[in-house]
Amino acid sequence: MRVILLGPPGAGKGTQAVRIAEAFGLPHISTGDIFRENVRGGTDLGTRAKSYMDAGELVPDEIVVGMVGDRLAEADAAEGFILDGFPRTVPQAQALEDLLVDRDAPLDVVLRFIVDHDEVVARLTGRRTCTGCGAVFHLEHAPPATEGVCDSCGGELIQRDDDTEDVVLNRLEVYRKQTEPLEHFYWERGLLRDVEAVGEVDGVAERALAVLRDYAG
Ligand code: AP5
Repeated sequence: MRVILLGPPGAGKGTQAVRIAEAFGLPHISTGDIFRENVRGGTDLGTRAKSYMDAGELVPDEIVVGMVGDRLAEADAAEGFILDGFPRTVPQAQALEDLLVDRDAPLDVVLRFIVDHDEVVARLTGRRTCTGCGAVFHLEHAPPATEGVCDSCGGELIQRDDDTEDVVLNRLEVYRKQTEPLEHFYWERGLLRDVEAVGEVDGVAERALAVLRDYAG
């Protein structure tokens, strides 16, 4: 099954991708996570991406498309994948479509997560992320058992550089201008399905999984 998760920053794409990937045994491919790993590792890719990420701007398409093409060529993506944070522009979506046509492996569905502006601002400014394993918490909705410490690996929890309020507001504006046009792109292709993404995380997961079971065959 080949699935895209679409929705604004803070919609819960990463939170739900983990659950969906586990439920269907598919790799969770997050372009944001790949960039953050490269920033932590001090790679050339990380160095090129960092200034865009810190400002809440998109990394240029040519960098992202090449990186995703390489990732999708790995063996674990042969039977399907959950894409989280990609595509984010119409040229990225077109590049993905071309790549999948070449492989005779079309997309099954694009899940659009519906959440309002004030909710995503509250989610992002309250998010805390583990420096060790990347696990995600929230100060109110999903606090760790011990403040500042990851429940999964004991790593330190920090606020991402792009989760401060001014950068969050810019990311939402970038989403509106550059990523929202994808809704029409996928609607035209009959691939768009909505998921109400407010409420308990488990409830959102149930709604997302119910849609995906229709495609699981
Ligand atoms: P990326 O990491 O992809 O950021 P994003 O899309 O802005 O998404 P987020 O990770 O912020 O949010 P999410 O929807 O995954 O929410 P989450 O589950 O964490 O990208 C970062 C940067 O990398 C970009 O700005 C760009 O520079 C670059 N980049 C990445 N991909 C790119 C691309 N394709 N092209 C160009 N540049 C690219 O949840 C958020 C919070 O809410 C958490 O604290 C969570 O606990 C909480 N939460 C989740 N669900 C619920 C719920 N139901 N109720 C209450 N709280 C909830």
